[in-house]
Amino acid sequence: MVRAFDAPTLLVTNIGELVTPVGAGPHKGSAQARLWRLPDAAVAVREGRIVWVGPRAEWQGEVAREVDAAGRVVLPGLVDPHTHAVWAGDRLDDFEARARGISYEEILAAGGGIYHTVRQTTQADVGALVALALPRMRRLLRSGATTVEVKSGYGLAPAAELKLLRAIRRLCQEAEADIVPTLLVHVPPPEGRAAYVEEVVRSLLPAVAREGLAVAVDIFVEREAFTVAEAERVLRAAQEHGLAVKLHADQFHALGGVELGVRLGALSVDHLEASGPPQIAALAKSRTVGVLLPGVSLHLGIPPAPGRVLVDAGAAVAVGTDLNPGSSPLFSAQLALALAVRLNGLSPAEALVAATANAAAALDLADRGRVEPGCRADLLVLDSHDWRDLAYTLGADDLIARVFVAGKQVHPQEGEP
Ligand code: NIG
Ligand code: FE
Repeated sequence: MVRAFDAPTLLVTNIGELVTPVGAGPHKGSAQARLWRLPDAAVAVREGRIVWVGPRAEWQGEVAREVDAAGRVVLPGLVDPHTHAVWAGDRLDDFEARARGISYEEILAAGGGIYHTVRQTTQADVGALVALALPRMRRLLRSGATTVEVKSGYGLAPAAELKLLRAIRRLCQEAEADIVPTLLVHVPPPEGRAAYVEEVVRSLLPAVAREGLAVAVDIFVEREAFTVAEAERVLRAAQEHGLAVKLHADQFHALGGVELGVRLGALSVDHLEASGPPQIAALAKSRTVGVLLPGVSLHLGIPPAPGRVLVDAGAAVAVGTDLNPGSSPLFSAQLALALAVRLNGLSPAEALVAATANAAAALDLADRGRVEPGCRADLLVLDSHDWRDLAYTLGADDLIARVFVAGKQVHPQEGEP
């Protein structure tokens, strides 16, 4: 029983069905499909945290405010564990070139692609970058993402990367979703890559750690990006500064990035489109989360990551949008979840855990991604009586009727229907 003097501020009631993963992730193998489903439920919230979950008829306390879910489904807010939401300019010329048959890797190897976005992004100041990123964050929020990881990576030069991380810090203050900042060591400069790696290790990482600008460091291991040896040097240095690590690995070629991530205890290895049996076996034995990015397969036409095989082998998988201008202009966490069913072979239940508890684990966050007492009150009201609509529906921007972040309704906003 909740006593009157510590009464919850909010009761979400008349929930037709509450659907949630149970316990903090990573949920591996068959546990990835495990959901708790409670009909006729209610959720009580105090000071942004869930304090009670149970059958509606059992709630007896006082509340300051009630939200009537009108018999619909309530789910935990989605966690988008992988975005590059801060960039300037566009990649529309790349898009047209790719439609003519030139590949993403060819464009990158010729100094375009990511390098093009780096040139455009380094010209923008922090204010302009924040102004560009805020509406992107709003679109993700509208799609159900109440926590969003945002990477730097379009600065390249250490000073420019620090500028991007400062823009992300401003975004943390101004966006409604909770934002998790990551330093991304994205591509080497066209000349002097050894000196660049040294500069990252000796000056960028210490500055990021000193100013608390990121919680994790990510690096892109690929033929046109960094080698496994370079990544190991950067990520070990990051760990010495107390930063978590993760990798962009096996996007086009399985070069050993996944195995390195597992060896270092990375929070996640992301992409995995080119992963095969050795990488799948390595992940299955670890607590490192494999992050699926189906928007990349859709946009670039590359093979989807083997989500089904990963889960069957006993690995934990998460799903993210990879929102970025080059490989995944995907502004919906719900659509990423829905694509993981079509492209990566997950079941709807596995996709829900991938987009919630396991995505939270990929960010080392144990207090979200599920509806349980003690967790943040990040909640979605689905405009449906069947939770599977979340994984089924493609392109309906009104599927998510309400979004709450830490107990506060952020969608619809006041004045919106
Ligand atoms: O996750 N692969 C590397 N980085 C991003 C794409 C960045 C870009 O093309 O601008 C990704 O796919
Ligand atoms: Fe990415």
